[in-house]
Formats: sequence, C-alpha cells, structure tokens
Amino acid sequence: MGKDFKRYLITSALPYANGAVHIGHLAGVYVPADIYVRYLRNRGRDVKFICGSDEHGVPITIKAKQMNCSPQDVVDKYHKIIKDSFERFGISFDIYSRTTSEIHHRTASEFFRKLYDEGKFIEKESEQYYDEEAGQFLADRYITGTCPKCGAENAYGDQCEKCGSTLSPDELINPKSAISGSNPVKRKTSHWYLPLDQYEPWLKKWILEDHKEWKTNVYGQCKSWLDGGLQPRAVSRDLDWGVPVPVEGAEGKVLYVWFDAPIGYISNTIELIPDEWEKWWKSEDTKMVHFIGKDNIVFHCIVFPSMLKAYGDGFILPENVPANEFLNLEGDKISTSRNWAVWLHEYLDEFPGQEDVLRYVLCANAPETKDNDFTWKDFQTRNNSELVAIFGNFVNRAVVLTHKYFGGKVPSRGELSELDRDILSTVPVIRESMENNLENYKFREALKEAMNLARLGNKYLTETEPWKLAKSDMTRVATILNISLQLCADLAIAFEPFLPFSAAKLNGILNVGKMEWDLIGNDKILAEGHQLNEPVLLFSKIEDSVIEAQIEKLNRTKQENMAKAAAKEAEEVPEYAPAKEECTFDDFMKMDIRTATVLEAERVPKTDKLLKLTIDTGLDKRTIVSGIAEYYTPEEMVGKQICILANLAPRKIRGIESKGMILMSKEENGGMKIVSPEERMGNGATIG
Ligand code: MF3
Ligand code: ZN
Repeated sequence: MGKDFKRYLITSALPYANGAVHIGHLAGVYVPADIYVRYLRNRGRDVKFICGSDEHGVPITIKAKQMNCSPQDVVDKYHKIIKDSFERFGISFDIYSRTTSEIHHRTASEFFRKLYDEGKFIEKESEQYYDEEAGQFLADRYITGTCPKCGAENAYGDQCEKCGSTLSPDELINPKSAISGSNPVKRKTSHWYLPLDQYEPWLKKWILEDHKEWKTNVYGQCKSWLDGGLQPRAVSRDLDWGVPVPVEGAEGKVLYVWFDAPIGYISNTIELIPDEWEKWWKSEDTKMVHFIGKDNIVFHCIVFPSMLKAYGDGFILPENVPANEFLNLEGDKISTSRNWAVWLHEYLDEFPGQEDVLRYVLCANAPETKDNDFTWKDFQTRNNSELVAIFGNFVNRAVVLTHKYFGGKVPSRGELSELDRDILSTVPVIRESMENNLENYKFREALKEAMNLARLGNKYLTETEPWKLAKSDMTRVATILNISLQLCADLAIAFEPFLPFSAAKLNGILNVGKMEWDLIGNDKILAEGHQLNEPVLLFSKIEDSVIEAQIEKLNRTKQENMAKAAAKEAEEVPEYAPAKEECTFDDFMKMDIRTATVLEAERVPKTDKLLKLTIDTGLDKRTIVSGIAEYYTPEEMVGKQICILANLAPRKIRGIESKGMILMSKEENGGMKIVSPEERMGNGATIG
C-alpha cells in the first residue's frame, strides 16, 4: 500500500478445461480481474494480464472416460470453448495459453527439478488403493464406496456428495474402483512432498503480520490453516496424464495438478514475453495480484508462495489475493455436472450485443464479501431500471437535444450557475471514490459510484429542463448541454473498465477515441464546436418473455436432473438372495398362510430390531415377535393387514413366545416391505 510499483502482473485462476465457463467463474474471478486490469491500463500503468487453461488433473481424465475419448481431446474441446467465450466477452487477457503447451511442461518440469536437486522435497512411501484389473493406482475420485458419515452408497474417496463430508479413501466402507468396479487393494507407492510445516513460521509472518490488509475472507481462511498447523503435501501423483515427474525411476508419476497449474502463470508469462519475463516475476517493482475464487485460497496463499519461496532466485510473492465467495443461481449452488449454470458461450449466443448487461449484473451483484444469488429477474431489473433508465437515458437525452438545437455540435458554455458548478465539482469527488474502491478491489462500490455519476446527470437535466428553456434562453440551453456532454465523456471513461462495449459505443457517439482515466473531472473534455455523431441506444429494454424463456430453460434442466436421478436409482440393480432348493407341492401345502391384522405393537426393550405384535388371525389373537423395527415403527404397524405363516412352530425370542412369522419381501441390500393382499380382506383368509 502506498508503494509505487512500476509494473502490475495480474493473474486470474486458470480454469479447468473439463467444462465451459459459467457466471460463477465470471463473477468470482474474471469480471473483477478484467475491471482491475482495464482500470490500471487506463491510468497508464504497465500491466500484464495472464491466464490460460488448466488442462491436467483427475477431473480431465474422468471427463475423458465419460466422453469416451482421450484427455487431450477433452482439453482441446474445452480450451477452445473457454478461450473463444472469454474473448467475445471482452476479458482482456494479454495471453490465454494452456498447461499442455510445451513451454509449460518444460517450465514446470524444471521448477520441480530444481527443488528436487536442492533437497527441498521429502520422499515418502505410503499405501494407496490400486486397481489390479485396470493396473493403476486410484485417485481419490476414482474410488467409491459407502459414506461412513451418512451411509450414502456412492460417496467418492475425497467427498460424499450426499452429506458434503470431506473424506479420505480409507474411510470409505466397501471401497470399489470406479474404473473396473473391482475391489481395490492397498499397494505401496512413493511420492514427493513439499514440507509446508517448514514454511509455517515464515508464512505466519508474511500473511498474518504483513498482510493484515487482505480481505477478511482470505485472511481468515489463511489464519485458520496456519493455526491448524501445516502438513507436508504430496506434489506428485500416480497418473498417466500430466507433467511427468522429471526424476529417474518415477515412471507412471506426474506432478500433482496443483503443483503444475500455478507455475502456468509463469510459463504463460514466458510465452508472452520470453525476453522480459524475469523482470516481471523477479523484481520488487512488480505488484503481483492473483484473482481467484474462495476454493483456491489455500493454493494461492500458502502452497504456491511456499513453492516460490523454496525456489528462491528472486521470485516475488503476491501483494494481494482478492478472492471472492461463490455466486449461486436462482437459489441453488452452481454445478457443472448438474448443468445448473448460465454458460457464458450460450449467453453470448442468446444475447448478442448484450455482453455488458451480464458484466454489469455480475459486478453489481458480485459475491465480494459473501455468497450471492444470480436471478434472471434481477438481471432484467438491473438492465431495465439502471442501465436503460439511468445511464442510457441520460446519454440519449443529452445527445438528442444537442442534435436538435445545435446540429450535433458541442455548444459553448456561458455563465455558470451554482448548480452547474456543483455538478462539475462533484465529478472529481466521485472519481476519487472510484479510485479508492478500485485500488482496494471493491468493484461493486466503484460501479455504484459510476452509476451515481449517471444519476447526477439525469437529475441535472430533469432539474434544469433545457427543452423548456429552448424558446427563451438558448445561451442557458447551450451551457446546460455543454456540461451534460462533459458528463457523458466522464461516463465513457468511468464505465470503460466495467462496460467496455458500451464505453466504446459511447465514444463513437461522442466522436472521440479512447480516453485516459485522468481526464475524468476535466470540465472541458469535449471542445466547443466538436461534432458529435448520431445517437444510438446504449442499452435496450429486456422483455418479460426473454426472461421467462431463460427460467423455462433452467426448469428443463431441473426436470432432466430429476429424471436422471430416477433412472440412476432404477438402474441400481438390487441384490437378491440366491434361489432356494426345489420343494414339492406337498411341502408347500403344509404351510398355513393367512391374512391377519395388527392390533397392538411395541418395541421389545433393549433391542433395535424387534417389535412385539398382537395380531388377529381370524382363528385367534396371538403374539408374534418380528425383526422389522428397522423398517416400521410400532405406530405404523397398528391396523396394518399382514400375511403370516400361521403354523410355524412356536419359538421363544427374548423370552417372549412368538407364534408364527410375518411374510416380508426383502432385497439383500435394500429395505424390507410387508406383504399384504392387494385389498383388505377378512382376517384368516388363506393364501396359496
Ligand atoms: N483450475 C483451478 C480451478 O478451477 C484453478 C487453478 S489456478 C492455478 O479451481 F493457480 F492453479 F492456476
Ligand atoms: Zn455422506
């Protein structure tokens, strides 16, 4: 803070190339990063904005299996989708590369090798699950089993999606390989670990003491990691997709994706400026800022800095890591696998020319300090009553009136009234507040201030009513419009970082090129007599039908998800007991099976499974003890019609004489259900 930097190295998280980009990514990372970068550039600062696709890791290999293609095919497909959509959306990266590039493989590999040679890793052997049929070690995601916490059947080795618990593969009950379905075995394997514990004192000072200014959510997460004590972290994996571990005898091992991906920031800078990159990465004059989502905090604040520290050689650390929280969609967590998202490439196709509306809404509603919700209704309201009604309306009025009264030439300014002076002197105040907010990553606030500037203009026109003065006082009209047009120019500059497409449009209307930030508040941006172009609308109203169509689309997703879940359940083939030996007709006829009704039911004390039932068999009233308490409560049983084997020899169960047995239908791995006639019958009706 307060320090003057010569350069700004801005990174935004490398998105995984296993899916497209959605509004959650945008609001959390890319929109704020782009605003910051555009602002810095407009102030004339030397900036590099670095990004690229994160193309390694287990999720990519899982996706490849699902799509029945190679991991390379997966990343090729999504890298293109992501890159194109960012570009169309105006995210102004200086480079968007990828971690499968040769230069990245080389850089990551050399990075590892230096730490390895200098003894910065520890090598440790551990036992990990191995799939003998598939002949490979299993990543946590590739092991499924029963969740020890909630009993859900398809929990992953790292997480149960049902109850949200974080798991380790060892905790799973009945672990199975998701690749072959076989039972995995434990096998010894050895990996390299970065001993984070050794960096703990240094990290504590660097973050907890020297970076108290970091956002509370970021600082808080770091503090809780550091207070909890750091452990060595494995930086390699047994996998056949990634950067090979550059060490002899490490066949079949690759760098852990979270080791190689952040090095991608470096490789991509090298690719962008091969001769100059060191100046950017190794000089205290560079301010490095990482834009990320909250799930990336530990990697960017603790792991990557420790890697850089271990490497030494002058590598700088981030000045700040302004991570955002998450954006939800219509009240539900955004999910790639459930297709619960607004996908950027689809938005761009469905809302051509309206990139800025999404940019505006995502910034105005950014999850800067807490999770937020995106709704299509809010999207419509913000467009119609803010962009159209305030910003667009003001610009349109000012420009249309100038064309009407002055042939589209900026009129000259006469004597200034007090109101005029007030307006003009407010602009620098707003500018300063915007700068403060932007420098401190408070983009929502900064955007609000820009909108306040448009509000001010609107109010000015409404109060001065130049259209009424046109008959009596053209000098006054000229002054008012001159001031209004200066405000339009201020708006074009102030909004550029947020709404670059609209700012460019506005520049077109004002017939000017791109303007520097420092012009904001200069009360003579547009010279008298300067010719404007014909007005075009900056924004247009979004109709209800458009919003309804989007909500309808989400509803279809919801229904598809429900159908999929139902199909999956139906597919889960239950296990049945094996067939029994043949029996004769006479054997069968020996059994006296009848209908009966439960009169009373109670738990057998000190047991979990047993209920004591008093039943009416038509022949008599008797007691049966049955192991159904796991499936039915006593209250549910009373009044039920059941079928019983009435002539089973009496047995004593827990000291209670049980006469007969209730017929139940049962899946080995599922529940139990009572068997009863389709419709109620009299008690004692025979079955056979
Ligand atoms: N791919 C990761 C994610 O989407 C982010 C990687 S950021 C980097 O969560 F630092 F590793 F590049
Ligand atoms: Zn669970």
